[in-house]
Amino acid sequence: MNTQTTAGLEDIKLGTRRKGVKDSRIINSHKHAQDSEGADDVNQLFPIVHDWAWEFYRTTCKNSWFPYDVGMVRDIAQWPTLTDDERGILERTLGFLSTADSLVANNLVLGIYSNITSPECRLFLLRQAFEEAVHMESYSYIVQSLGLDEAKIFNMYREIKSMADKANWSVKFTRILSDPKFSTGTLENDQKLLRDLIAFYLVFEGIFFYVGFVQVLSLGRRNLMPGACEQIQYIFRDESLHLNFGVDLVNQIIKECPELWTEEFQAEIREIIKEGVALEYAYAEDTMPRPILGLNKEMFKDYLQYIGNRRLKQIGLDEEWPGASNPFPWMSELIDLKKEKNFFETRVTEYQTGSALDWDDES
Ligand SMILES: [Fe+2]
Ligand SMILES: [Fe+2]
Repeated sequence: MNTQTTAGLEDIKLGTRRKGVKDSRIINSHKHAQDSEGADDVNQLFPIVHDWAWEFYRTTCKNSWFPYDVGMVRDIAQWPTLTDDERGILERTLGFLSTADSLVANNLVLGIYSNITSPECRLFLLRQAFEEAVHMESYSYIVQSLGLDEAKIFNMYREIKSMADKANWSVKFTRILSDPKFSTGTLENDQKLLRDLIAFYLVFEGIFFYVGFVQVLSLGRRNLMPGACEQIQYIFRDESLHLNFGVDLVNQIIKECPELWTEEFQAEIREIIKEGVALEYAYAEDTMPRPILGLNKEMFKDYLQYIGNRRLKQIGLDEEWPGASNPFPWMSELIDLKKEKNFFETRVTEYQTGSALDWDDES
């Protein structure tokens, strides 16, 4: 097999061995099924090898929701009554997240997808890409409902340094994978892919969204901007699943390819997570020059270090900030929409069919 061919685009050859359960790996399936071309066929979903990825896919599908089902009438009435600082944090959050979801989608489609050789993982990536599109639609719906200055909001990530720094930090990882000459199969390149997955799933979706989520959901806890907050709550739930899928994806790759997880590489990953915490704290300082809604910068320092510790532990690394505590324990409860059904006193559509969410941790 030509190892340069993108998985799934090889010639279809007659008479090759059928795919077996041992033929599917998260990356480089073709390298582990060399005895018979085609046995690693990424176009065949069954037999499913990575059951957890299939379960994540099924759960995300049960969480389907649509922005235009959420009423914005109360938000429109409340918007002029908010303080400048309150309006500012919603505008900044919309500004960052509306473009951040595009950066995540770009990374999925242009960087990750072609390099993942587990079909059930690819299935989740397709679903995730759709959800990022829904999120972009949601931010635009809020911006338009409130009659906000679209050019101001959507250009923020190019005009406000703390946002541009986060965006630029992430784009460099996508750029490496989207190079047409890039392919996995060497230690160096497999580590490049793993580095991107950790940067996007654990840092971008697992740290860079959290200051904005806390700020906006704090408005909701005071019964302010209920429609916007309800949508952010759905997005928070989606993002928590993306993060948890990413954690399992990374850990499965490390399990299948332990040679990638060298001490030197672990030290580098630690630095990547520390950079993520520092960038998000700079964003918190920038968006909150004064305390607001019972929040202040120092609380976010604690919170981001607490989250940074969690991200390290989720991939088997030691904590960086011993003793960091979580000043916002209510955040984890907000993911469970059944429990918090009337949290914002809105007409909440549960948007969860079938069995309850299955969380192994809060995010
Ligand atoms: Fe998203
Ligand atoms: Fe996401």
